[in-house]
Amino acid sequence: MPIKANKNANTIRILTNNTEYQIKVDKFGILKHVWYGRPVWDDMDHLLDYPGIGFAGNIHESGDRREYSPDTLPQEYGCSGGADYRVPSISVVFEDGSRTVDLRYIGYTIEKGKYSIPGLPAVYASDDDAETLEIYLQDIASELVVRLRYGVLPQYDVITRSAVISNKGSEPIRLENAMSFCLDIPFGEWDRMTFVGRHAMERVPDRQPVDPGIHESSSARGASSHQQNPSVILCSKDCTETSGECYGAALVYSGSFKTQVERDQLGGTRLTMGINPDLFSWELGAGEDFYTPEAIITYSGEGFDRLSQNFHGVIRNNVCRGKYKLAPRPILINNWEATYFNFDEEKLAAIAKQASKLGVDLFVMDDGWFGKRSSDTSGLGDWTVNESKLKGGLKPLVDRVKSFGMKFGIWFEPEMISEDSDLFRAHPDWAIAVPGRAPVLSRSQLLLDLTRADVREYLYGAISDILNSADISYVKWDFNRSICDWYSHGIPKERMGEMPHRYMLGLYELLERLTHDFPDVLFEGCSGGGGRFDAGMLYYTPQIWCSDDTDAYERTKIQYGTSFIYPVSAVGSHVSAVPNHQTGRVTPLEARAVTAMAGSFGYELDLGKLSDAEKAAVKEQTARFRRYDDLIHNGSYHRLSDPTADKFAAWEYVSFDRTEALVHGMVFRTEPSAMRYRIRLRGLDPEKLYRFDTDGKIYSGTALMNGGILLPRTWGDYAPFELHFTEF
Ligand code: DGJ
Repeated sequence: MPIKANKNANTIRILTNNTEYQIKVDKFGILKHVWYGRPVWDDMDHLLDYPGIGFAGNIHESGDRREYSPDTLPQEYGCSGGADYRVPSISVVFEDGSRTVDLRYIGYTIEKGKYSIPGLPAVYASDDDAETLEIYLQDIASELVVRLRYGVLPQYDVITRSAVISNKGSEPIRLENAMSFCLDIPFGEWDRMTFVGRHAMERVPDRQPVDPGIHESSSARGASSHQQNPSVILCSKDCTETSGECYGAALVYSGSFKTQVERDQLGGTRLTMGINPDLFSWELGAGEDFYTPEAIITYSGEGFDRLSQNFHGVIRNNVCRGKYKLAPRPILINNWEATYFNFDEEKLAAIAKQASKLGVDLFVMDDGWFGKRSSDTSGLGDWTVNESKLKGGLKPLVDRVKSFGMKFGIWFEPEMISEDSDLFRAHPDWAIAVPGRAPVLSRSQLLLDLTRADVREYLYGAISDILNSADISYVKWDFNRSICDWYSHGIPKERMGEMPHRYMLGLYELLERLTHDFPDVLFEGCSGGGGRFDAGMLYYTPQIWCSDDTDAYERTKIQYGTSFIYPVSAVGSHVSAVPNHQTGRVTPLEARAVTAMAGSFGYELDLGKLSDAEKAAVKEQTARFRRYDDLIHNGSYHRLSDPTADKFAAWEYVSFDRTEALVHGMVFRTEPSAMRYRIRLRGLDPEKLYRFDTDGKIYSGTALMNGGILLPRTWGDYAPFELHFTEF
């Protein structure tokens, strides 16, 4: 049993394979956070200090004990309006206008299995693999009850956190902030790593010291965003891939979020994460509950590599769902960069036919097949086939693609509407806009109001009609702008602050219905690349197009950052044409291939335009990926270099039985008269011997991990390499 409660000591301990988390209820009923880190096997209460400093509020019952202050004690869920002045986890406006919340312990439950959250994505697990702790708190002067939920998955050193906020009183209250969790770390100097960027350059790691004050990363875009990802790592100053302490948190949510890291006056560090309160208020009527999204948290005492293994394991096995969760993903060819909007059946069939000869499994028809869609200025919302491009509808094309022995996939951007569309002309009020204000356009498009059941019903009908009209095996679900102008005709004006979260609940409901009703379809998420790359979307779409930047060199950085939290199987990655369409860079075909293999793998170019030698190389690549796909997607992944700083990129996959390892990467610039670069492998069995394919020599796991091996001598720029080792 990973959760242990000691009633005498009022202590609850959560034990995972390599971590321990301790919570204590004190004599005032305040829930204190006592420990999170390596297992300690002891009550760590002695670490709590009571410094008695000025201007720290004392709860009334502590009387003259001025040293007792929630402001200086580590808390499990910091309250606002009272004695704790640090960033709060919960803020409420009561019926009388007051805002003070003071939560005290009333009880706990421990159950087998992992809780779920109504209407929201969450980690799932069998009763044998997880346990749930719920701690009940109640406001000292009202009937506001908060249930803190902890889902414990010991094998990944993962604890999930979420809160249920209930109004047990008879008057409505207004929630203005409801974080998924709070983690107080009273000791240590920390760096904060976030994953930042912009369109076509997402999730590049940014490591900054946690200086005094409040540090934020957030999105107010109605989506998790390209700019800042809903994930964070706090790491010790000396933390590397293989040593040092780090804590990681990833939100299972795809909407606007806020992560705050506060270094307080006493050097303590507080981390909170949840729905962005700047765009949130929620009326909680008498008897109603509010469920926060979930966060996945984990700790590693052995550096980032271990932390990433924890995230990869839980996201791949306990967040992603459906037929394709662990199954080999189809190698796909997407026509977007090959044709953009300019295609017809002949052109697409020719691309598919060529790809089928080179070992590609699935043809994906991207944007432009529907409505009046010859550019990105019109047609969104009209999900009927554009017969000027595809005469006779989808079926003739699908049948041709299938006759080549391939599957067929299709692109949608369901949440959007063009002003120049039949849907907009029929239902202008379905678009998100504030009455009396011209709405903000982005890529010339508006958003559909997914808080409305009639809009969701329309989308379900339109998408399922298309999916039922032909043999379709794959859907790319795109989302190409940020949301603003929050206003819905379906929400009372005093509750408009609920709209951003209600939008997410609407989106999740629609995704749940479609993925449930079309279980054989592989759904791939997308938002202009990776603008909604988060564990919430991965619950519905086991892979997400990682970035609109398909340049292999840039992708090494984007995929490097992505890999801190998300598994390789989640990363949509394709080989595209050179010069690259985003950067003009020319990289070798093999460099593009090994980079795209660090993902779901596919191609996005007209393979017919390649030379015979290049076509032969593609055929070899698809066969090679098939040989390695289980190792790549279901093995462990290790970053062997930092491509944002080093002169080369190198990453490694190791099979779970540690009998096989594959290293891929590229040397960015070949230098003359230079030593070859050395890498040290990870994740091997030190006791095993491995044969290195390249020279047939035998090396011990210890030698490869401690001493390492030299990369091959290279020629040219972006020079790719592949090293393969099998147990001898
Ligand atoms: C953005 C996506 O990221 C691209 O791959 C492509 O699908 C375009 N949208 C189509 O409009």
